Amino acid sequence: MDNKDYISENQKAWDEWADIHIKGSLFYPVEQFKAGKQGWSPNIPDDIGPVAGKSILHLQCHFGMDTIMWAGQGAHITGVDFSEKAVSHARALNREVGKNAEFIRSDIYRLPEILEKQYDIVLTYYGTVVWLPDLPAWAKVIAHFLKPGGFFYIADGHPFVNMLDMDKNSDKPKFVYPYFTSGNPEKIESSTGTYANPDAATKNKVTYQWDHSLGDIVNSLIDAGLKIDFLHEFPFSFYNVFYYSNKDILVRDSRGWWRFKDDVGHFPLMFSVKAKH
Ligand SMILES: C[S@@+](CC[C@H](N)C(=O)[O-])C[C@H]1O[C@@H](n2cnc3c(N)ncnc32)[C@H](O)[C@@H]1O
Repeated sequence: MDNKDYISENQKAWDEWADIHIKGSLFYPVEQFKAGKQGWSPNIPDDIGPVAGKSILHLQCHFGMDTIMWAGQGAHITGVDFSEKAVSHARALNREVGKNAEFIRSDIYRLPEILEKQYDIVLTYYGTVVWLPDLPAWAKVIAHFLKPGGFFYIADGHPFVNMLDMDKNSDKPKFVYPYFTSGNPEKIESSTGTYANPDAATKNKVTYQWDHSLGDIVNSLIDAGLKIDFLHEFPFSFYNVFYYSNKDILVRDSRGWWRFKDDVGHFPLMFSVKAKH
């Protein structure tokens, strides 16, 4: 298999997951969102600033709940995702809540072939780079779509976490997996469910993910011509990282962040980077 085959397998899974996620869950509170509450991740670290009047390209937007949330704050925003189902749910949700977000179905590597525009902000967060085989090409796409003076922002799971596993009976993570990898994807087989709906019945049980080091993420942006404003690391995460091994070791705080129970911040669980063009 080559990267095209891996991406096409992932796409099938994401189509199925989009159909599941649009129905709502604790992770994706779709009904609350429709009722006028915020998106599922209102707790983006307060790094982005006001977006009213800004043009934004939101990469890997899934079924668009957050894209629509930013539109609700006055942004002129376009969400991009390679899943046909995700984009079709996003357009329907956008119509239903009466916002003006736009959506494009595309593999982000092919986006420059079909979209001619530049943006004040390019945004991607929460479960993004692990689905991408080629970070230098990704960073070039970001630079391509940024206006001079515009900025890129990413927040995502800290690559450090990819090394850890946890026994059900222990509250101490163990180092099990390598940090530096060969560039080949990891084949992930799940018995059932998704990260948002662990009990849902699913047909597509195999996906492929690429572990990238923090250095690779940052250097790909620098090599594409961006200037790093900051790299932040956080002792909490946007999801329950250890759900499948010991789901009680992290607890959700009042802002929705998942933290170690005793809150001493043992490990970095999430990072964010802001970079200017
Ligand atoms: C975990 S979601 C993104 C996070 C988003 N914040 C959310 O709502 O959860 C990952 C998204 O990446 C999309 N995706 C994966 N690989 C892609 C690619 N090569 N091009 C475009 N979208 C991709 C998937 O379809 C999925 O919707």
